[in-house]
Amino acid sequence: MLISPSLLSCDFANVQRDVEMLNKSQADWFHIDIMDGVFVPNISFGIPVLKAIYRHAKKPLDVHLMIENPDAYLSAFKDAGAHLLTVHYEACRHLHRTIQAIHDLEMKAGVALNPHTPVSAIEEIITDLDVVLLMSVNPGFGGQKFIDASCQKVEKLKELIVKTNSKALIEIDGGVNLKTGSMLAKAGADVIVAGSFVFNSTDPSKTIGELKMLS
Ligand code: DX5
Ligand code: ZN
Repeated sequence: MLISPSLLSCDFANVQRDVEMLNKSQADWFHIDIMDGVFVPNISFGIPVLKAIYRHAKKPLDVHLMIENPDAYLSAFKDAGAHLLTVHYEACRHLHRTIQAIHDLEMKAGVALNPHTPVSAIEEIITDLDVVLLMSVNPGFGGQKFIDASCQKVEKLKELIVKTNSKALIEIDGGVNLKTGSMLAKAGADVIVAGSFVFNSTDPSKTIGELKMLS
């Protein structure tokens, strides 16, 4: 299991300290949530903050764009240090073109699906993707309750990936803790994002280690 802790729940007055903690922990990626207040009803932070994180991060930056018109900013996110760039299915009218543009910029490409969007929506594009990010909460906020039906969605996606011989990893975002994480591991998830469960715990590094053991 790969673990991608979400910095949305870090202490924004001590970002460098939390980045150093993640560097030393068993975290695999840094999950960075970019929200524009239009695609989702919340605003997080933008490109200058991402650049500052990149200066200190020693692991790949997994950037989750919850913004309208992501095409306008792809190269800016590349310059800011994104390794994997994930756009929302619901925000892209020409998704195939967007994925190609991300690859042309030499980033890994991911597509995120909101809870209401079926796995079948990406059937025609699955072999072009490096990651599919299934939202197990409605995007916009940390600390929400896990939507139980997400486990069946992971199984459906896994079937599609096996059937098409796609190399895409299955990443899950929202409401992940040890209990939901263990259900997701059984369902076939490859990467889990965890924000509040990690950063609200008394020992975030130890919590990451516990998530890492899930199988
Ligand atoms: C929500 C974000 C998540 C968020 C998850 O829209 O995409 O990455 O940080 O937070 P938790 O793990 O607290 O649900
Ligand atoms: Zn996210």
